Amino acid sequence: MNKRHLGLAGGILGLGLLTLVHAAGPRPEEAVEYRQSVYTVIKWHFSPIGAMIKGEIPFDAAAVSRHAQYVEMMSAAALDGFPAGSGPDAVQDTDAKANIWTNWDQFESAMAEFHKEAVQLAEIAKGGDAGTIRAQFVKTAETCKACHREFRAD
Ligand code: HEC
Repeated sequence: MNKRHLGLAGGILGLGLLTLVHAAGPRPEEAVEYRQSVYTVIKWHFSPIGAMIKGEIPFDAAAVSRHAQYVEMMSAAALDGFPAGSGPDAVQDTDAKANIWTNWDQFESAMAEFHKEAVQLAEIAKGGDAGTIRAQFVKTAETCKACHREFRAD
């Protein structure tokens, strides 16, 4: 590449970065991508805890604790993925129902409920007791189901 081409490439790169930085906010499709990714991570870490307490895979207290910490972290991140205007009327490829935004307080408290139980699960997991972990896992799973029943299309 000669100097002129390099300069051009640099200019285009610079413009791209500027667009990235100066964007007014995430596009609706990006919000959908973000929240679906967050839930993918949640499932990735939540499922093995379930498999362990069901005896499908060997119980490993350290692994449960690590997984539970990721679920806790993601439970705090999920709400960010639902900005106004990212519902099914704006994006085709989403299972989020429009009632999230018309019943925002209820949705927010369903998320808070999930977060509360996830924090508790991470706390209990540190103790490593299979029995109490099982009980708290079930409680947390109920908050997933409750929100999906109300706010996710299947
Ligand atoms: C407060 C509401 C709420 C809670 C709590 C919640 N979810 Fe969801 N979940 C949703 C919504 C809404 C979607 C649809 C997102 C979309 O398609 O835009 C979703 C989507 C998903 C998906 C599909 C992601 C994809 O790739 O499309 C998985 C998996 C999932 N949730 C798992 C869970 C698990 C596991 C829990 C609990 C540990 C949980 N969710 C808790 C609302 C919730």
